[in-house]
Parts: sequence; structure tokens; C-alpha cells
Amino acid sequence: MNDNHDNYKDVYSRSMSDPETFWAEAATEIDWITPFDRVLDDTRLPFYRWFSGGTLNTCYNAVDRHVENGHGDRTAIIYDSPVTGIKARLSYRDLQQATALFAGILSEQGVTKGDRVLIYMPMIPEAAIAMLACARIGAIHSVVFGGFAAKELATRIDDARPKLVVSASCGIEVNKIIAYKPLLDEAINLAAHKPEKTVIYQRPQATASMTKGRDIDWLEAAKTASPVDCVPVAATDPLYILYTSGTTGVPKGVVRDNGGHAVALNWSMKNIYNVEPGEVFWSASDVGWVVGHSYIVYGPLLAGCTTVIYEGKPVGTPDPGAFWRVISEHGVRVMFTAPTAFRAIKREDPDGDYLKPHDLGHFKALFLAGERCDPDTLSWAEEKLGVPVIDHWWQTETGWAIAANPLGIEQLPVKPGSPTVAVPGYDVRILREDGSEEQSGEIGLIMIKLPLPPGCLPTLWQNDERFVDSYLSRVEGYYLTGDAGFKDEDGYLWIMSRIDDIINVAGHRLSTGAMEEVLAAHEDVAECAVIGVADPLKGELPLGLVVLKAGAQKQGEELKGELVQMVRDRIGPVASFKLVVVVQRLPKTRSGKILRGTMKNIADGKEIRIPATIDDPAILKEIRAALQDIGYASPS
Ligand code: COA
Ligand code: AMP
Repeated sequence: MNDNHDNYKDVYSRSMSDPETFWAEAATEIDWITPFDRVLDDTRLPFYRWFSGGTLNTCYNAVDRHVENGHGDRTAIIYDSPVTGIKARLSYRDLQQATALFAGILSEQGVTKGDRVLIYMPMIPEAAIAMLACARIGAIHSVVFGGFAAKELATRIDDARPKLVVSASCGIEVNKIIAYKPLLDEAINLAAHKPEKTVIYQRPQATASMTKGRDIDWLEAAKTASPVDCVPVAATDPLYILYTSGTTGVPKGVVRDNGGHAVALNWSMKNIYNVEPGEVFWSASDVGWVVGHSYIVYGPLLAGCTTVIYEGKPVGTPDPGAFWRVISEHGVRVMFTAPTAFRAIKREDPDGDYLKPHDLGHFKALFLAGERCDPDTLSWAEEKLGVPVIDHWWQTETGWAIAANPLGIEQLPVKPGSPTVAVPGYDVRILREDGSEEQSGEIGLIMIKLPLPPGCLPTLWQNDERFVDSYLSRVEGYYLTGDAGFKDEDGYLWIMSRIDDIINVAGHRLSTGAMEEVLAAHEDVAECAVIGVADPLKGELPLGLVVLKAGAQKQGEELKGELVQMVRDRIGPVASFKLVVVVQRLPKTRSGKILRGTMKNIADGKEIRIPATIDDPAILKEIRAALQDIGYASPS
């Protein structure tokens, strides 16, 4: 397992005592056009920049250099799509050609360095090609997950102000064809900013109708396009913007730079995941999420691995053996997914019968992230697969793991429920509100002492102020992760909960505040609260509690149906918003703050401590009764 005979403690302490030497050494694995003159630039605090003065091209590092180094025939992408029955392979040479050609299409449309390109695509190789093509010409991509509604897409269009949008005619969800183009058309209609052009990849399952003069057919344009080469960009130039839920309805545009990102992801492939160039790495996620950016596209390709683009689900495409088929058929060495996917498999195939026909002899490790991995799921996966199952903790903002069991450095003992230890580069501290450090074992705010390592967000898109307010102002000199937890006596981290209104639904990060904004917009709703309730499959599900206006027009099922549809239309099906309860009043503190945490504990059947500041404790009984009516809040 451990080729370089290092141990975690030594590597971690090197990264802490001399981060500049540590990361400069990691940076030698990346091809630079001009070398950086500072490893860590701290001339504009509290903003830190990595590798300033250096230039490089991320697409060159992820694609072209492997071809130039004699690996053009190696498979870069395996596309496995049980929903269409297609399996295809693209070599690094194929990927270079496809990317250069698509970069040519973008350039012909006037897209140049620094322009934004929004990508709204299903899990097809063209999604990765579009991302890499942007990187090739220095354009900044912003990928939006397909499960978001037109309104969410419009919000992102208005913030990123893309010159061009790349999309496909449809996505396929098990056996439903989801037409993407009408959603895109509606989003462009809703948005104040109008992208000049769109490029649409027409899939045979649905044909998109095109707007003359604005919409370009990908395959048609490719017939006449000329390939273009990689351009140099500054290490500190943005590679992409990825929007993630904040505490309001306005998502945060997390920025990723080119240099730090390439160095960190390349380093992580060997040191965390323990994969070698040429090995198959599979991340069963979606390019719309950070996991997809980092570990479907950039990480594996920067490291010269083979990546799998899987257009399917853990179950239902066609059965709970889908993951085992992909692992055995494509020789996957390391896999990465969310615990919810394993809970879905375990639910349908508890004894692992679907595993039996498949040879997983070459499979080395399973990594899980996106939400806390419950110990039951972890031990089920360990027992059935017979390989290390590693829970690791990270977030869109960091772009790669903050805590993990770094298999490529040293395999540490697994403690179920903990994502193990801080990854080299991250100085993780548990702090109290006053900034003092918690003692071992006590829960506090999980914060990271600045500077963050390479690869983490340098700022939010065109919003330095929100970056500082959201992340750097709670305790000076520290980054606020938004998670609460503790460190045990062995230095293992335990991630217990969020400190804000973010919930985690099937590994997808969602804002309950954004859902409340939607419910509050209904004409009959006087006030509302959305809480995340425990769910055995998805981890959490959103549940809306609404108080109606006097004389409300709609009541009962009709009202609930409308509210569910509104969240689906305005946020998207991915929110899985299906639970609504009408209540007479909401519990509040005397100062008017809604007691969401108390309601969540009631819904989950946990013991509650009645807050001393509560206005009227009797309301809690009403809430409990209403939740019991829909099968929650089992009497404690
Ligand atoms: N485009 C359009 N719609 C999408 C979509 C996409 N890319 N992805 C999901 N949706 C829709 C689904 O069709 C579903 O719609 P429905 O309400 O009409 O049924 C809804 O969004 C919720 O989807 P999902 O969260 O996938 O739930 P599910 O019940 O269909 O499947 C799991 C449950 C556990 C199998 C599924 O959530 C899963 O595979 N999760 C893996 C999680 C993951 O990859 N997380 C990323 C972080 S690592
Ligand atoms: P996202 O930005 O969508 O990746 O979501 C990040 C958030 O998901 C984190 O801040 C945590 O709240 C949660 N999360 C991700 N991975 C884990 C994990 N392994 N254990 C516990 N929580 C996690």
C-alpha cells in the first residue's frame, strides 16, 4: 500500500512546518509554461494566492502532456451508459482531438480567455470535453447540475454572465427522458443577462428545437471547426466557478484557480487515493457537483489515470448489481461515491447476491463522501467488498478532501463514523465562538487556520466581500467550514452537523432557506420553516411546516401539491421536496427566531431540551402531533 515508506505524521508535519517547500515540491509534478515566482503570495491578506507569477494550462496538463509523453493510446475516458446501452472508450489522443476541436468551436464564437461559459449537461463525455475545452482557451466554465430547475439556472446565468451556454437536448433519468433545452430556453428567458450563443449536443433520445441565430448544433459545427491549441493562463486565473448552496436563495459562486488546483488534485490522486497513472478511477457522481469536477474530470486526468463517466444510478439501471458490473468490467481500482448510493444498494440487495457473479479481484478501495457515512453502511460495504472503505470529508469550497485516510501515504485504522485525520496542508482546529480552542473530545466549530492549502477557493465570484463575510470573519485568521464536530484523543475528526441551514439530501447540498423563500411566495402561506428530517435512504429529506393566512383559498392536499410543485419548479427535482405539514403556529424564541433545531429533533424522535427562551412551550405539542400524523416524531 505504502510505496514511499513515509508515514502520515511526518508528511503532515512537513506540510504544516514548511508549506511552501511542501507544495513547491508537489508543483514539480505539473508542467508549467513559466515558473511561479512565489509559492504562497500573502501580499493581499486575508486573500492568499498560490503559485503567483506562474503560467500553465490545465487542459494541457490533463490531456496533451500525456499524449506528448507517449501515452496517447491510453484510455482517458470510459463512457458507460446503462440508460442508453452505450459503452465507449476515448484514448488520451481522442480526447485531445475532441477537446481541441470543441475549443475551436468556442473560439469561432468569440469566446476568449476570461469569458464565462455555462455548461448544463448530462453525464456524457461531451460534458468533460466542454469543460476541458474551456480550460484550453482560458475561458471560465460554470457547470450547473441537470436536476436544477430553470429558475436556479437563471440565477447562475445572471451571476456568471456567460458569453455562451453549452447544453444537450436531454438527460436520461433511469427511463425518463428529461428534455434540457426547454429548461435552458426558459432560464434564458428568465435571466436578465442573455448569453449570445448556445451550443447544443443533440442526442437521439430527444431533439432540441433550435433558435436561429443563437443556437448552434455541436455536431454540425464540428464538421467545419478547426482545432485550437492550449493558451497560457496565470496560475491565479480562475479555471471555473461552481455554485453551491449558501444560507440564502442566492448561491455562492465558488472560484477555483488553475495552478493550485492542478497541484493539489494531482497530489491527492497518489497520496489520498493511492492510484497510479494508467489505473482506472471511478467517481460515481455527476459533473454538476464538485466531486464530478475534481474526481470525474480533473483529478484522474491530471494524474494520467482512466476515468469512468457513468450515466446511470446505483439501483434501477438495471439492478443493484450495476456498480459491481462497472467495477469488474472496466477494471476499476478505486471508486468514489456518496454513502446514499450504498444505502440504496444495500436496501435492494442486503445479502449482496448481485455481487456474486462479478470478479472484483483488482478492486483496491472505496471512498465515500458528500455526507457522513453511517457505521452500518460502512461495515456492510467493508464486509461485502473486502477492501478498505474510507469516509472522507470535504466541501465544494475546498475542492478536495480536508480529512481522509490517506491510503497512498499510510493506511490508518478506520474508526466508523469518522473521516479519519486532517489531510496534509489543512490545519484543522475545533474552536469555540470566542476563538479559543476546544479541548480534545468537545464539540465546537470546525475551522481551518489560514492559509488554506492549494486548490481551495481563493474567493467567491466577483464577491470578495461575501467571501470574507461568509468564511473569514467568524474568527480572524481562520476559515469557517460551516460544520461542527470534534477531534478525539488520536487526532481523528468527527463531523457532527452543520451550523447553518444547509441540509444534505442524497449527498446533495441544499439550502432550507432557499426552500422557505419558495414556500413563502405562495399566496396562502403566512409563514413557514423548512427542516431536514432523518431519512434512511437519502440521509436527510426537507420537510416544510407552513402556517396559513386567515381565509386561505387553498387547503389540504391541493395546497400541499402546489407547494411541492413550486419547489420542484423553482429549485428542481433534486431537492426531493415532498413533505409538507400545515400547523397553526411555529415555535419561536421570545425575540421571534423560529426554533428549527428543536422541530428537527422532535421530527427525528430525539429527546429535546425545551429552550429557555421559548415564547410558548405548548406549541411544541402541536408540532409533535402534526409530525406524527405524517409518520415522523415517533413518541419518545
Ligand atoms: N437531471 C434531471 N433530473 C435529475 C437529475 C439530473 N441530472 N438527477 C436527479 N434528478 C431528479 C430525479 O429524476 C428525481 O426526480 P423525481 O422526483 O421525478 O423522481 C429527483 O431529481 C431526485 O433524484 P435523486 O436524488 O437521484 O433521487 P432518486 O430517488 O432518483 O435516487 C439515489 C436515489 C440514492 C439512488 C440517488 O440519489 C443517487 O444515486 N445518489 C448518489 C448521490 C451522488 O452522486 N451524490 C453526489 C455527491 S458525491
Ligand atoms: P458539498 O459542498 O456539496 O460537497 O457539501 C459539503 C458538506 O457536506 C460539508 O460541509 C459537510 O456538511 C457535508 N459532508 C461532506 N462529506 C462529509 C463527510 N464525509 N462526513 C460528514 N459530512 C460531510
